[in-house]
Amino acid sequence: MKAGERLIVALDVPTPDEARAFISKIGEHAGVWKIGLELLFAGGAELAAALSAQGQKVFVDAKLLDIPHTIERATANIADMGAAFLTVHGHDMKTMEAAMNGRGTSDLKLLAVTVLTSLDKADLEQQGSMMTTDELVLHRANLRREAGFDGVIASGHEAAAIREATGDDFLIVTPGIRPAGTDAGDQARVMTPSRAIQAGADYLVVGRPILQAKDPAAAARAIVEEIGRALG
Ligand code: C5P
Repeated sequence: MKAGERLIVALDVPTPDEARAFISKIGEHAGVWKIGLELLFAGGAELAAALSAQGQKVFVDAKLLDIPHTIERATANIADMGAAFLTVHGHDMKTMEAAMNGRGTSDLKLLAVTVLTSLDKADLEQQGSMMTTDELVLHRANLRREAGFDGVIASGHEAAAIREATGDDFLIVTPGIRPAGTDAGDQARVMTPSRAIQAGADYLVVGRPILQAKDPAAAARAIVEEIGRALG
């Protein structure tokens, strides 16, 4: 996989028009367009289907969590849209099996959310978890692998341990990416593009460092170059 294919740009904007404006600005520098909850409820589902029909790779970041029947039907609809990736937020086998059934024989890759990169140890304690962030991420990654998922979303800080535990054919998709000198915002566990790749990430998810840059295309290009250097 080339460096450019590994960059997932998070289209965290309120309208499809704004998303399309960024897509035409950033163009070939991104490998995958991620459509998240904000945009999904404002025409983003239609945008995802249209981009997929044009041959673009689309990541529907719906972070699904519901009863198995609903998960299966929702996953099937997202597979029918032609999406390339989908996130599922289930923390149990039933949810994951339902998503596997829903994607059927389509090419949709299922990614599990482990622990949101905005959460730190204190937040997990508040949720009642006795595990550290690293332990919980690893525990959930192993569960997802057993369920047959294609990969997980995990911060760069957990990527190396997940890679070691799950092997090479399990995708690690890493948000919380901040090129040197950029603002962390609400992300608690950030990492530079090169360090995340060195830690074992396959794909990097980048939103604000590109969308809020003066020149989004140049920011995306610089990240792809950094990925390329890290890959050697
Ligand atoms: O702007 P920023 O680069 O922080 O955006 C990161 C993107 O990755 C957001 O769209 C966010 O929803 C997503 N994400 C995340 N942490 C996860 C899963 C997804 O930040 N664990």
